[in-house]
Amino acid sequence: MDTQVNYDSLIPNNVGLAADMKLRRAMERWYPKYLDWWTSMGPNGFQDYEVYLRTAISVDPEGWARFGFVKMPDYRWGVLLAPQQEGRTIAFGQHKGEPVWQEIPGEYRAMLRRLIVIQGDTEPASVEQQRFLGTTAPSLYDMRNVFQVNVEEGRHLWAMVYLLQKYFGRDGREEAEDLLQRRSGDEDRPRILGAFNEATPDWVSFFMFTTFTDRDGKFQLEALAQSGFDPLARTCRFMLTEEGHHMFVGRTGVERIVQRTCQVLNEQGIDDPNDIQAARKHGVVDLPTIQKKINFHVAVTLDLFGAEISTNAANAFNASLKGRFRENRIDDDHQLANETYPVSQVVGDRIVERDVPALSSINARLSDDFIADCNNVLKRWNWALKAHDIDFRLSLPHRAFNRAVGEFAEVQATPQGKLLSETEWAERQGEWLPSEADMSYILSLMQPCTEPGRFANWIAPPRAGINGMPGDFEYVKLAA
Ligand SMILES: [Fe+2]
Ligand SMILES: [Fe+2]
Repeated sequence: MDTQVNYDSLIPNNVGLAADMKLRRAMERWYPKYLDWWTSMGPNGFQDYEVYLRTAISVDPEGWARFGFVKMPDYRWGVLLAPQQEGRTIAFGQHKGEPVWQEIPGEYRAMLRRLIVIQGDTEPASVEQQRFLGTTAPSLYDMRNVFQVNVEEGRHLWAMVYLLQKYFGRDGREEAEDLLQRRSGDEDRPRILGAFNEATPDWVSFFMFTTFTDRDGKFQLEALAQSGFDPLARTCRFMLTEEGHHMFVGRTGVERIVQRTCQVLNEQGIDDPNDIQAARKHGVVDLPTIQKKINFHVAVTLDLFGAEISTNAANAFNASLKGRFRENRIDDDHQLANETYPVSQVVGDRIVERDVPALSSINARLSDDFIADCNNVLKRWNWALKAHDIDFRLSLPHRAFNRAVGEFAEVQATPQGKLLSETEWAERQGEWLPSEADMSYILSLMQPCTEPGRFANWIAPPRAGINGMPGDFEYVKLAA
């Protein structure tokens, strides 16, 4: 096991694929099917252009990427695991303290397969959701970023397929096929999780998705990176290094939208940041609509964490398969036999916090960690508002707002967490969620801007180029 990646073979890897004939054959048989999927469901209309992409060449935290122009179908996808840690022991659950497993314990096979398939399914799903965004990119810089995110999500699929094919025999090979068969938003064969069947029709949605939904990915990967099944843990650790960039694209994308709107409000002397029409007259995304987009994406993403109180999550924790965020920094026995955790619940007509057994509230805790991380992002966006002296602040909706899964699935609440009757909700939801008119306004802004160094009117340029490239760098070579 090396930190350097072998690029001499068809499938770049650092898992010794050359010596594992059976696995290599399985992966090589899957590759053309993956490519079919990529060319039919990946970035639409841009497969023949050279894109300035980074490729992982090592799994060292330092200097693991190489940048260069490549056509996306020629991207060197592969199988990359973070290095094995000598003597690593299991950090939580029933098997705490035992050496990590290099093979799957028979009794956990089904549970582990399910965890891997669910994670794996999200990866191609987001590529499908984003496939039309190239056409309306606000700049070549942004176009390149969506493609970078897409090829990496493709590689994350490879990572999960590797685990399925190496450790799950024929079942695993079938699951690997199915991952290429389901389609985001398809009525008959949808992707497994709700948020991954929503459309990502515009760039505001894309930046919200990469801010919040890729951040769910971060927390799921962090929890799986704790796994007693070492190959899964190591795969997830490497995937997390790539996830950082996806969240960066999202956070800075929204920040640049906010900056541009503030700039225009100030230039035009618009005093009321809630004056939607005034902002729209100048072709920028008004702040109330940005808030509505936040509300929508956070709610849909919170559903991805599953029910706050969950037997499945308890079982996976107990089996030492899926841990908590930064397990090693938590000060408890890591087995949770007698611990409790405060979970928000509906009691009568109020939302109250109740202490419930910590083992059953693993999902609640992970989503709390997610919310804390999101709050840091909101701070950054609010700094931009403050820096421009704009009297408006963005906020996260309460976890009870617009939920379809878990404790709040059956109730309605305001973004501040006040419970509402169905009638009140029906009357007022337009105040908090993007309307059709809001969405079509956003869509109307989505005119491509492909001249190097230029940006659409509704978004500010980034602070710096990719890999230190100058402002007018041609990240995607559209001219032949
Ligand atoms: Fe991913
Ligand atoms: Fe991602």
